[in-house]
Amino acid sequence: MKFKSKNLKSLPSTTASKIIVVTTEARLKTKAWSKILGKFEERVTKVFARLPEPLKAGSNVKVCGIERNDPDILISLLPDETSTFSLLNFARSQLKASLCSHVKELALVFLEPKFESALADTFGAAIATQIFEMPAYGKRLEKKKPFKLENVEIFSAKTQEKNAVYGFETGNGANLVRYLGTLPPNLLNTETYGKRISDIAKKYKFGFKFYSNKELKKMGAGAFTAVDQGNPNSKGGIYEITYSPRTSKNKKHIALVGKGLCFDTGGYDIKTNGFMLTMKGDMQGSALALANLVTASELKMPLKIKAYLGVTENHISPEAFTADQVVTALNGMSIEVINTDAEGRMVLSDTLTLASRGKPDTIIDFATLTGGAVYSIGTMYSAGFTNRDELHDKIKEAGVESGERVWTFPLGKDYAKRLESPIADILQCSKARGIDHILAAYFLSQFVDKDIPWVHIDLSCAENDNGLAHVDSMFTGFGVRWTMQYLKNKYKV
Ligand code: BES
Ligand code: ZN
Ligand code: ZN
Repeated sequence: MKFKSKNLKSLPSTTASKIIVVTTEARLKTKAWSKILGKFEERVTKVFARLPEPLKAGSNVKVCGIERNDPDILISLLPDETSTFSLLNFARSQLKASLCSHVKELALVFLEPKFESALADTFGAAIATQIFEMPAYGKRLEKKKPFKLENVEIFSAKTQEKNAVYGFETGNGANLVRYLGTLPPNLLNTETYGKRISDIAKKYKFGFKFYSNKELKKMGAGAFTAVDQGNPNSKGGIYEITYSPRTSKNKKHIALVGKGLCFDTGGYDIKTNGFMLTMKGDMQGSALALANLVTASELKMPLKIKAYLGVTENHISPEAFTADQVVTALNGMSIEVINTDAEGRMVLSDTLTLASRGKPDTIIDFATLTGGAVYSIGTMYSAGFTNRDELHDKIKEAGVESGERVWTFPLGKDYAKRLESPIADILQCSKARGIDHILAAYFLSQFVDKDIPWVHIDLSCAENDNGLAHVDSMFTGFGVRWTMQYLKNKYKV
């Protein structure tokens, strides 16, 4: 995709077949506006004259071309609420109203200088997600008409190319997450997922290391192994992928850790009543960690980042783990198993230990970890936790700024009692479910070196029925925008 910045005055000479003008009611009444429109003015004025009532903020009106080469113009009024989240939604809906698959050239006109950077970013993101082809099979695939968009011109006061490209890359990051999440579990299993991970690592020239399940067992990663052994044919393991640009500004790397359950049946505590459905998406934490590396690389972010992906699946077999077992994790802690469906924290505990041993500057982990997070905060925010109180505001700020919102929960010694085991160092979870998202986070904290600032994101908005912000699909691909923003703020890059 090519994004090109253009001078507002040159709008009438555009060759784009679709134009989206983002403006406000006040701006529509100015002379500058009619000057910018030039030869389009007559058509636009006519349509406005026929409107039964004035256009409302956040809505649009279409001005169709009359002659063969006339562009269709969509006049869109900025919404009253101009948070990044709201603008991502707005960009999605305006593109839906304008863009069709055959369009090769699109012109975006941003007439509000105060918002043009945010609009370039959010429209860039929404363009990436709108034109992306999600998995489809059989006749559904045959019927698909891929988008042909190649060029996007941006008419604005200042050049906005960079912001649009930034948005576009974050949108592509979300696409990678939701694409992998949507692949059916018979097509994305521990083996094929591993192949995709190593292909991506090769393509981006990332460092690549794979700890196979056999090696992990030998190393003493009993928590990972307990889950992985349920499928004797599992090709699971932990992937350590490194993005290390020459320009990197951080001496110690950043570690991103992800839960990668290709499928979560619940194990012997099997998921019933339809709760197993969509558990193909239980690998999205790992897909997000990976997509963050890809996006950082596309954006040439000057930071050294490692991703640790704990990839396996939760199945039933004579070898599968059961409640009441006691297993010893890689860091030497013994864990009393309470519920085989709380497999994510088992896999993550050993993955976090491995990440901790690399002595990173900071660790951020991502996981579709608990139903508790979804019950407590819903599917429009993700749930954040940290072992540093001063990071709460930073976590939330990155959410507001990026439009991928995270709200934080408390964590600390108060919760230790609830995970005391009579026979082991810690309970895997509590029988009482009420605050499982917090207890799961507390459990994970025990596998992170206390000297390392750590953030845990329980991805409650990985799944949302009508999509979220700039994304249409049920799997929202949430998190790349949040992560990029958090890292940009923290490392001032
Ligand atoms: N993958 C699930 C959590 C989940 C459920 C994420 C629904 C997104 C949507 C996780 O492995 C799980 O099953 N957690 C259990 C933990 C419980 C047994 C303590 C849960 O939340 O019910
Ligand atoms: Zn589970
Ligand atoms: Zn799970």
